[in-house]
Amino acid sequence: MNREEVFNYAAGPSVLPVPVLETAASELLNYRGTGMSVMEMSHRSKVYLDIFNETKQKFRDALGVPESHEILFLQGGGSLQFSMIPLNFSAPGDSVDYAVTGRFAGIAADEAERYCTVRRVYDGASTNFAHIPTQEELDLDPRAKYFYYCSNNTVMGTSWKYVPDTHGVHICCDMSSEILSHPVDVAKFGLIFAGAQKNMAPAGLTMVIVDRALCGYERDITPLMLSYQRQINKDSMYNTPPCYNIYILGLVLDWLKTMGGVTGMEKFKHERAAIVYNYLDESKLFKPCAEVESRSDMNVTFRTGDKALDAEFAAFAQERGLLNLKGHRSVGGMRASLYNAMPMEGAVKLVEVMKEFEASHV
Ligand SMILES: Cc1ncc(COP(=O)(O)O)c(C=O)c1O
Repeated sequence: MNREEVFNYAAGPSVLPVPVLETAASELLNYRGTGMSVMEMSHRSKVYLDIFNETKQKFRDALGVPESHEILFLQGGGSLQFSMIPLNFSAPGDSVDYAVTGRFAGIAADEAERYCTVRRVYDGASTNFAHIPTQEELDLDPRAKYFYYCSNNTVMGTSWKYVPDTHGVHICCDMSSEILSHPVDVAKFGLIFAGAQKNMAPAGLTMVIVDRALCGYERDITPLMLSYQRQINKDSMYNTPPCYNIYILGLVLDWLKTMGGVTGMEKFKHERAAIVYNYLDESKLFKPCAEVESRSDMNVTFRTGDKALDAEFAAFAQERGLLNLKGHRSVGGMRASLYNAMPMEGAVKLVEVMKEFEASHV
């Protein structure tokens, strides 16, 4: 298949902007007259340090990260943050609060339980994770060392529309599947992290934004590489950073600017997701999985209610160039991930194909 014939709805790694891939391709063998690929450069070289520092600044500008917060380029995926957070922000015997609104928040809570007492201040299992709690539904502890939540739940397709008021307890947030898709008041957070492979770059880079005032209190057992303070001291170069991914992130941030930055992206993503949700709300065949108020603009989940029919639709869509619509293996159904780089036509085409399928099945 040609690229022009395909829409890729994968949940991550996922679609990247075409202009980014074109620039990367044109610079692949010889980056701006250096005679080298970015992949081949020393991370200590002047030319690479310029890429690194410019990308960091572009990220700070794009999200409005205040000077109180450090930006780190790490590895280990979102999953390593599940360990780094309790290792850096809790002591043995401490109690921490977790809102379990989906698969990855649940894994993060399980991991934290290895180190401290975890209070599950909300557990969405009873609603099959279709619901995001209101402030009143959160049973928050004012003495908790931190409060943790996942702002966009990739698997069930739900998202938080507000930042909870924790009365001073600092907030750690997994924004892996929605970072850079809307403005964020970063000052409200102690820490934000996001794996790059959805809205930012290829897999292998994890962005961390952390309030410097919270760092330097990690447990004695914390591996040096997993200490936020050490990573701050070394400007993310305690070891070799994921150099090429950082370069791609820089290109993605340039592209984001042409889309009106995070404010432009917020409007765009909302319109794009509405195209699909509006159809789902009327469809007699497909049913959306998430509650209306909890719906994610990034991951749209739906099903027919019949596993065989779901599989038939995924195959039908694939034949028409609509790839990776199968839902996560833990929940089944379908999932269309509409990340930043997904053009509006990706939503339009999806609805077109769903209508065609529905017409022949009801
Ligand atoms: C919201 C969220 N958090 C964490 C993860 C885990 O990330 P990683 O595979 O980079 O460890 C994922 C993976 O898809 C995710 O969607």
